[in-house]
Amino acid sequence: MRKPLMAGNWKMNKTVAEAVSVVKALKSSIADVTDVEVLICPTFTALYAVNNEVKGSNINIGAQNLFWEPKGAFTGEISPTMVKDTGCSYVLIGHSERRQYFNETDETVNKKTKAALVAGLIPVICIGETLKEREQNITFKVIEKQIKEGLAGLTPQQAETIVIAYEPVWAIGTGKTATPDQAQEVHAFTRKVYSQMYGDASQKVRILYGGSVNPTNVSDLMKQPDIDGGLVGGASLEAESFTKLVKYSK
Ligand code: 13P
Repeated sequence: MRKPLMAGNWKMNKTVAEAVSVVKALKSSIADVTDVEVLICPTFTALYAVNNEVKGSNINIGAQNLFWEPKGAFTGEISPTMVKDTGCSYVLIGHSERRQYFNETDETVNKKTKAALVAGLIPVICIGETLKEREQNITFKVIEKQIKEGLAGLTPQQAETIVIAYEPVWAIGTGKTATPDQAQEVHAFTRKVYSQMYGDASQKVRILYGGSVNPTNVSDLMKQPDIDGGLVGGASLEAESFTKLVKYSK
């Protein structure tokens, strides 16, 4: 059985004080949750303080990015060990905003994924097609390339511990969620490609859906057999709405 994972990607939002205040509220509102794993990904600057606040709770933290080199003259970058050092257990890799605005490619996703695993972090690898690609009917082709190139060369053991997040670019921040059927179709396809690469790991890997997930649509999405959780932007920014997502089955 795959344990559901509800993850909040805070993107470039919140000062340290704001971030700490939200996790403080969240800590008490979801203290009773044991059947869903919870992950919050604040900005780099808030990680250390947020980690101090969540220690001993059921909230995990993750970074939104990292660089693959271990150290050195790479001004402005953060190494996998530094991310781990702030208390993170997860890291987002290859979010569509990073691909779109910061030129990340499947090749850099692959380098970052391997470096994250070496540092003992669990990568959450983001994949997804643009609206144009969907309209051209090449969604599966795009997804297959992102998986094959982004995840090439992992051991079967690594392949089952990582997390994949399917986030159709046209559904991010637009209020236009993929329907549960549309999402399920791509999740099932992702698992199929994964099984060709890594066999049984495909039954263990968790595949999250992201793109305008909110308290109203979450339970229908979570009913789909291949959707194992959510990667949530806007609706994760406040404790009240994120609590509803974590407690989607209640
Ligand atoms: P929204 O939930 O705001 O659409 O963002 C999704 C996302 O990009 C999460 O990584």
